[in-house]
Amino acid sequence: MPGRFLVVEGIDGSGKSSQVERLGRWLPHSGLMPPGAELVVTREPGGTPLGKQLYNIILNPQLALHRQAELFLFAADRAQHVETKIRPALSQGNWVVSDRFSGSTVAYQGYGRGCDLELIDTLEQVATGGLTPDLTLWLDLPPQQAHDRQGLQPPLPEKDPFEGAGLGFAQRVAHGFQQLAGERGWWPIAAGEPLAVVEAAIQHACRSTFALDR
Ligand code: TYD
Repeated sequence: MPGRFLVVEGIDGSGKSSQVERLGRWLPHSGLMPPGAELVVTREPGGTPLGKQLYNIILNPQLALHRQAELFLFAADRAQHVETKIRPALSQGNWVVSDRFSGSTVAYQGYGRGCDLELIDTLEQVATGGLTPDLTLWLDLPPQQAHDRQGLQPPLPEKDPFEGAGLGFAQRVAHGFQQLAGERGWWPIAAGEPLAVVEAAIQHACRSTFALDR
């Protein structure tokens, strides 16, 4: 039996990375995965050695990437990730959790940067080869709250261009995620709650989705 593919999406500052880490610790002991199946926790961008290099290019301000070039680099990262890491794991019956996937491109490059949504859709088909998640957990947090949370952190030496793009950009991206969540049947998680409450909501979503599999 092929494995299951879970994705966690959300704007910067939504607490996504900590929740992916917690999910990665809980899932193997949840009783949801079949015996012998392993869990692969991965991310986009940068889930493969090629992807890490592509992400360094994307983050390099000296290159002044055009948004269309940026879009293609995220697609290249995804194609490599799907074909060399995600699909092989799933076909061996292993489960995969990815911190971001193709929805992030629609939200950031499409709604955020204004790249053509039809082109993004075509690129998504090419890069994923039609692979879609079994469950997408959407960490829903108002951009203002995410912005305030990020303000509490010390500034990064090399600021992520997306995190530095301001509240207007974050609001467009958040709107994109909201649209996608409706269109694609994502599972919304109220991400403004305390970490343990968010974690419990994620576990509930996983049980509801996968408990009948077994
Ligand atoms: P993030 O998950 O925040 O990673 P990090 O821990 O390195 O900050 O993702 C990196 C950034 O890349 C984030 O701001 C969103 C952006 N991004 C896109 O613009 N398009 C995409 O397709 C993906 C996957 C990410």
